[in-house]
Amino acid sequence: MAAIIPVDDFDCVVFGATGDLTLRKLLPALYNRFRDGQFSTRCRIIAAARSNLNDESYRERARHALHEHVPKENLPDDTLNSFLSLIFYARVDGAKSDHWEGLTTLFQGDSERIRVFYLATSPSLYGPVCHNLSENGLVTPKSRVVLEKPIGHDLASARQIIEEVGKYFAEKQTYRIDHFLGKETVQNLLALRFANVIFERLWNADVIDHVQITVAETVGVEGRGSYYDTSGALRDMVQNHLLQLVCLLAMEPPINLQADALRDEKLKVLRALRPIAPHEVSQMTVRGQYVAGASGGKAVDGYLKDLSESIQGDGHVSDTETFVALKAEVRTWRWANVPFYLRTGKRLPQKVSEVVIQFRTVPISVFPPEAAEMQANRLVIRLQPEEGIRLGMMTKDPGPGGLRLRPTELDVSFEEAFSIRYPDAYERLLMDTVRGNATLFMRRDEVEAAWLWVEPILDAWSNSAERPKPYAAGSWGPTASIALIERDGRTWHEELG
Ligand code: BG6
Repeated sequence: MAAIIPVDDFDCVVFGATGDLTLRKLLPALYNRFRDGQFSTRCRIIAAARSNLNDESYRERARHALHEHVPKENLPDDTLNSFLSLIFYARVDGAKSDHWEGLTTLFQGDSERIRVFYLATSPSLYGPVCHNLSENGLVTPKSRVVLEKPIGHDLASARQIIEEVGKYFAEKQTYRIDHFLGKETVQNLLALRFANVIFERLWNADVIDHVQITVAETVGVEGRGSYYDTSGALRDMVQNHLLQLVCLLAMEPPINLQADALRDEKLKVLRALRPIAPHEVSQMTVRGQYVAGASGGKAVDGYLKDLSESIQGDGHVSDTETFVALKAEVRTWRWANVPFYLRTGKRLPQKVSEVVIQFRTVPISVFPPEAAEMQANRLVIRLQPEEGIRLGMMTKDPGPGGLRLRPTELDVSFEEAFSIRYPDAYERLLMDTVRGNATLFMRRDEVEAAWLWVEPILDAWSNSAERPKPYAAGSWGPTASIALIERDGRTWHEELG
């Protein structure tokens, strides 16, 4: 296992400390890094929120959350108590300018340490919180701000947030999280492409027919209705996570792995995405919304019912999409005429994130047709769960009686190969913010380029009288998604589902 390199001492202030993201993801991530000895007991985690809590009562919440989200065997009492003793609570309303003493008193006379301000709040608060941090003298040269996605809900609002935050934090102090980039297997795409000559030499339109990216979830909207209904799958997943995957798959080799070198190459991909014209949107995209069906063998409600439970009240009408499939094109020499088919949705049959690189068939078969139907090579990169890669290839069917062929697979399971716990994406990303390494964070121009591409689709949908197509919970989305790819004579990777 790789050695753990401890980070410098830091104070991490988390705004939105009573929220779901903090309790479910950030605290467990910080705990795991502490347990592995990556930071010392001189560090502090300062939980900031509006609720009337104090150090003790917040630590109890944190204890409860850790019990819920960290396996028991990783929670010995002494380590847990030691971690909890690093947590302090500051009652503050980030949007208001008064009553910041709870926070400022914790920082008196200490401006040399690294400060991480993590904004796990609604994006509408990013500007006001940064303004107030600055007004209260909390922003030091060693401070960084971490912003959760979504950065805005369209290009204009994203730019506005970026400008507001930019008044107080320089670009190099700003860490825009896309947690997919923190996933080990997503980073592995870089290793796969740029540490192996066998793939990179074939990574182009000469031999690749098309690329598929599927990010499927079994969960519905859960308790997140008020956020999700204003967002939908295109904003929630495609504008960030799926487009970032497209970038890593399609980009040219960066000159090194420094933040800007990598981000320059990703940006070129985003800028090379062919804009989808309004009249093409209905052909090149499919939006769906789940209706009642079955998930994990149980009957489940449709989106509208889930929504009314989540935000209370009946009779919700909503055109928010919980499923998107679309065809994207990267207009570069490397990818000319190689479509990227993307799909993502809630309440699909499996939780799975997968990339399929579909190669072309051999130009001419020297084998007689009765030897077998030739199947083109296919590289399947499983990002989660059961992480690994599989390369489908044709081989000779062993035995006498002529030369017959059959497809087989080279199959590498990372789980079996490494047999270690895959750290959660937030563990890596949080430590990167402390280290000051922005490689796996989105630069301003990337966020803007992604919105620029997505916006015409959003506009065309909202101008259209057509509603999202219904699909039964537990199915692979509307049948129009199958038609989208079949129109081009291709199929979604059928081993899913
Ligand atoms: C988040 C989205 O960014 O990613 C959620 O807001 C989604 O809607 C989640 O469920 C998926 O992340 P993961 O790590 O569970 O694949």
